Amino acid sequence: MSVIDLGEHGADFTANPYPYYAKLRAAGPVHRVRLPDGAEVWLVVGHEEARAALNDPRLSKSPSVLGLTMLDEEVIGPNLLVVDPPDHTRLRKLVAGEFTGRRVEALRPRVQRLTDELLDAMAPAGRADLVDALAFPLPIIVICELLGIPPEDRDTFRRWSNEVVTPSGAGAEAEAVHGLASYLDELIEAKRASGPADDLLSALVAARAEDGDRLTLPELRGLAYLLLIAGHETTVNLIATAVRALLTHPEQLAAFRAEPALLDGVVEETLRWDGPVETATYRFSREALTLGGTEIPAYEPVLVSLASGDRDPERFADPDRFDVRRDPRGHLAFGHGIHYCLGAPLARLEAGIALRSLLDRFPRLALDAEPGEWEWLPGVLIRGVRRLPVRW
Ligand code: HEM
Repeated sequence: MSVIDLGEHGADFTANPYPYYAKLRAAGPVHRVRLPDGAEVWLVVGHEEARAALNDPRLSKSPSVLGLTMLDEEVIGPNLLVVDPPDHTRLRKLVAGEFTGRRVEALRPRVQRLTDELLDAMAPAGRADLVDALAFPLPIIVICELLGIPPEDRDTFRRWSNEVVTPSGAGAEAEAVHGLASYLDELIEAKRASGPADDLLSALVAARAEDGDRLTLPELRGLAYLLLIAGHETTVNLIATAVRALLTHPEQLAAFRAEPALLDGVVEETLRWDGPVETATYRFSREALTLGGTEIPAYEPVLVSLASGDRDPERFADPDRFDVRRDPRGHLAFGHGIHYCLGAPLARLEAGIALRSLLDRFPRLALDAEPGEWEWLPGVLIRGVRRLPVRW
């Protein structure tokens, strides 16, 4: 099968990959592609096939299938996104209870207060970079508080976390991963020394102390690492993209302003239309398999394009249209199957509060830069803009 070079479209693909995905889908649901970073992978672009692939046990999450270890796994420890059952089942059980809809709902007053404080701080200037002023700090503060990361460490953490998800170079990424590993070691040691406290990391440290068989030290580090990274790099783009989508679709913004009950519709449609995670994390074929009529040999990397699956006209009518009144349920923005996003209830809560509060506070909110000036985040993992200048 010939290889389709997505890299040849350069920055156009990063800014707007959807027309390219549409062309791929029209030709078939699964393709061999070369990504902008040069890697050759199998890319799943059809909705049904994406859903099937995300839940297919023949596709392992562990790079060890190819005889590889990821740098972060080697240095920090295994995390939920690079392990299969039974390890995955055991590790997920240890944290799943903390992220249920009910546990997360209890955070509502705190998330509202934090949002109000951030809006108070930005209000006098009349203009701001929405990413820097609201979309970034809100999820970071929430996840850092949940885990028990001291406020003074947040900026360092944010730098490392950005570097891991959208690396500026191999050297910088390695430095960030090693920085994160030793930081987590010190933090875990501090939690152990200070005894039980009311945060998630303390609870995990205690779980390990009780029963070291249940959770090794690298696993503890890996869990904390994934929660922090996932909490830092995703919800920021859900908030910023929802604002971007509303401000570039005035009729949709007007509909939402007129009918506040559309809030969930805005959040879910943003997830479907331009979700923060463009492709799910890597999967690897343990055996040869046929997916959407295409044969994928054993021991090959496979990426599932959630962004493409959620614009599949076979699944969503008129898929390129941003429509806050449609029923976008069944979108793949949080993945599907056993690796379905653990943080989905938290992300929805934060985004809902941020959007409602921002639009209530600033009735004349408007873009303060032309869409052509936006700088898109590099790579195919995360979709979003680095800055979103707005005024009110
Ligand atoms: C809008 C925001 C978010 C989006 C779009 C998102 C998306 C995703 C997706 C697509 C996956 C599955 C990846 C795959 O199968 O390869 C995933 C997994 C995960 N997410 Fe999220 N996420 C978001 C926010 C969060 C937050 C706030 C947290 C943590 C507090 C979080 C924690 C996790 C964890 C731990 C996993 C791994 C689950 C497992 O492997 O069992 N996510 N997320």
